[in-house]
Amino acid sequence: MATKVSTFDDAVAIAAQPATPAVIAVENLVHRYENRTALNGISFEVRPAELFGLLGPNGSGKTTLFRILSTLMIPSSGRATILGYDTAQEPARVRRQIGVVFQAQSIDLKLTAYENLWHQGHLYGLRGAALNKRILEILSRVGLADRAKELVETFSGGMQRRIELGKGLLHHPGLLLLDEPTTGLDPGARRDLWQYLAMLRDEEHVSVLVTTHLMEEAERCDRLAILNEGNLVALGTPTELKSEIGGDVVLLDAAHDAGLLAERIRARFRVDTTVLENQIRIEREGAHRFVTEVVEAFPGEIEAMSVSKPALEDVFIRRTGHKFWNEKDETELNSNDRSSKPNKSRR
Ligand SMILES: Nc1ncnc2c1ncn2[C@@H]1O[C@H](COP(=O)(O)OP(=O)(O)OP(=O)(O)O)[C@@H](O)[C@H]1O
Ligand SMILES: [Mg+2]
Repeated sequence: MATKVSTFDDAVAIAAQPATPAVIAVENLVHRYENRTALNGISFEVRPAELFGLLGPNGSGKTTLFRILSTLMIPSSGRATILGYDTAQEPARVRRQIGVVFQAQSIDLKLTAYENLWHQGHLYGLRGAALNKRILEILSRVGLADRAKELVETFSGGMQRRIELGKGLLHHPGLLLLDEPTTGLDPGARRDLWQYLAMLRDEEHVSVLVTTHLMEEAERCDRLAILNEGNLVALGTPTELKSEIGGDVVLLDAAHDAGLLAERIRARFRVDTTVLENQIRIEREGAHRFVTEVVEAFPGEIEAMSVSKPALEDVFIRRTGHKFWNEKDETELNSNDRSSKPNKSRR
């Protein structure tokens, strides 16, 4: 009887939806922790079989949004739906549709790879031979079939992450949610994980939402939502977002007062300039010629310069008026993250 009702409800829900319903629809979502606003009216949609990225610096609201989507938290206002089900009203239905990989470790190190997956399967009502078959399938999918009987504590960080991912995929979810899944992984393991996510999208048509604070990971997404202090500051494909920057990006390090020099460049060349951390930033077509002219016009005033193609950080700067990483973040970054830090080092 219960099955019939749910089948009927499912049919009604499907009939009520447009031809290609959004996998995730977030509508004017607000979340406050006491008096701090972590999400300030966010709206966007994730489409079927899309690899969608949520990019934002520390404290921008990524995990808050992740918790709401994975039904762990109810928003202060607005709503989020997954395949048409409201995450606050119908959390059990939503959970059946999603696989979740949290940033914090959720595997049991004292169990084997197989046992971890066995316990996860039981949580989703899988049993016996069917569960056994699915575990072997998943272990081979994540490249750990030959390590099934070994304790997870003997695995490398990357292998442990793959077991986390396997747990999230065990019950065949159509949507996978991952919160900063590559934290602590070396570049090779990061690349493997992203290739695996793309494979899930392409071969199994799984939709994926992944949070990150790394620009080069965001570049791998089909579409992106960029968050800053609880606000959605940009939405689109990486190419679309970067194409809003006209021409190249010129950075000039002033020998003396950057503010003063920027003003003089502005007056002389009639360009917009931005000064960030004593560096002058200019968006300009034909930048190489322009830079030569500037250096000739202001001899001895420019200590260093660079010209580069627009990057996602330039989009962030344009939309927010500040850099993705502030000075405090830079001192707090561990060496792992530093290697992929997007500003000065990329130029
Ligand atoms: N349990 C909580 N109680 C109070 N404030 C919180 C809580 N969790 C998060 N916040 C605040 O909400 C804001 C958004 O935090 P959130 O964890 O969503 O950011 P994030 O983008 O995931 O950051 P990170 O990149 O550091 O993981 C921050 O100002 C944070 O201090
Ligand atoms: Mg977070």
